[in-house]
Amino acid sequence: MSSHDPAQMRPRRFTALGPLTGRIRVPGDKSISHRSIMLGALAVGETTVTGLLEGEDVLSTAAAMRAMGATIERDALGTWHVHGVGVGGLLQPQTALDMGNSGTSTRLLMGLVASHPITATFIGDASLSKRPMGRVIEPLSQIGASFTATPGGRLPLTLTGVQPAIPISYRLPVASAQVKSAVLLAGLNTAGVTTVIEPVPTRDHSERMLKGFGAELHVEVEADGTRVIRLTGEAELKPQAIEVPGDPSSAAFFVVAALLAPGSDLVIENVGLNPTRAALFDVLRLMGGAIEELDRRDVGGEPVADLRVRHSLLTGIEVDPAVVPSMVDEFPVLFVAAALAQGRTVTRGLEELRVKESDRIAVMRAALDLAGARVTETEDGLIIDGTGGEPLAGTPEGASIATHLDHRIAMSMAVAGLASGGGVEVDDTRPIATSFPVFEQLLATATATASASEPA
Ligand code: S3P
Repeated sequence: MSSHDPAQMRPRRFTALGPLTGRIRVPGDKSISHRSIMLGALAVGETTVTGLLEGEDVLSTAAAMRAMGATIERDALGTWHVHGVGVGGLLQPQTALDMGNSGTSTRLLMGLVASHPITATFIGDASLSKRPMGRVIEPLSQIGASFTATPGGRLPLTLTGVQPAIPISYRLPVASAQVKSAVLLAGLNTAGVTTVIEPVPTRDHSERMLKGFGAELHVEVEADGTRVIRLTGEAELKPQAIEVPGDPSSAAFFVVAALLAPGSDLVIENVGLNPTRAALFDVLRLMGGAIEELDRRDVGGEPVADLRVRHSLLTGIEVDPAVVPSMVDEFPVLFVAAALAQGRTVTRGLEELRVKESDRIAVMRAALDLAGARVTETEDGLIIDGTGGEPLAGTPEGASIATHLDHRIAMSMAVAGLASGGGVEVDDTRPIATSFPVFEQLLATATATASASEPA
């Protein structure tokens, strides 16, 4: 587990490496990977998963599902085999469930445990231990589960599930796919119909995958766009063969890096483009980014394409707050794009960014400041005046970006380093392994192709 111990931190200076070219493939989608393991672990029989993201967060989910009875193995070809225990069959874990840095593992697994007659203790790293769990404790208490949490509704916490659980109808007070999913997953082992009312749509992987596994789930969209999701409980899940598409949130770093680095022409293969996830690419196109979708197709029930990205001069814009949920994890890297754009970019409605792996508004403001960008922090966003394509100055000697155990801060500021004159020093690259363990390798690949193909 990553710690703040300076002796263990892995700093790196990221500097301009020239254009990004050739073809790369990013690892599997993190949200879909978590859900593949969880739902596979609740089906009876063998679920196979190809393209699973083998990042620390997903491995935390796998370890927890094993601790509750599932058999989960990776074969030599990289396919994962999950033998489930059946809905209702989760066993009492014998030790605390270590969630590492992963909010998704924690909140979704709390939902699963809540309707089983077992007790589980959840622990996590310093970042996860600061994050609010009250948002799941509240609906899961309504179904009858009980909690002993650290003050402020934080980890470590102990959850005692209930059986039979009460089917609830829950209107989401925050736009959160994790809260939605926690309630739906609790509903799997609850007799009757569990309803989630979602005024602002969030990523819909849980709904798609629950249906794929054979659960009875219906979504009704009201005139104002509110989604009403109804799940019939005591479901019997059927094992699936899942192919996980590439993660758009990981592709995002390479898309922005290629837009910013002069001479770039990069293809990123197999990128998931579920409309509840892909708004960053639309926003970057509105800013003038050359991002083309090639060979649009379907992979595992999700829209996918190869993205061809070419260097572009970007123009600042006002980002419509309505798109926030469909690119909630992509704002740190959008801020970097904005820092190099021509003119002003204004973002609003980003309150949720303050409770991610770090306070991503404050942390990115401090990071971009240090790297020489012009940034103003507001209550719910950043206002950024771009350089018009000129490289950022970079971080001064002896100063480094504080990533606060946040993988997306580390990768966003690595991209800023590529677009800087002097380079950007990142204090700790270890958190990158939570979601994108091959990030630095792929960066080397994408930047090596150009130098290798340059005339001697
Ligand atoms: C996720 C939902 C989002 C996102 C996270 C993954 C998921 O969190 O930030 O990285 O897989 O459901 P919120 O539900 O807190 O917005």
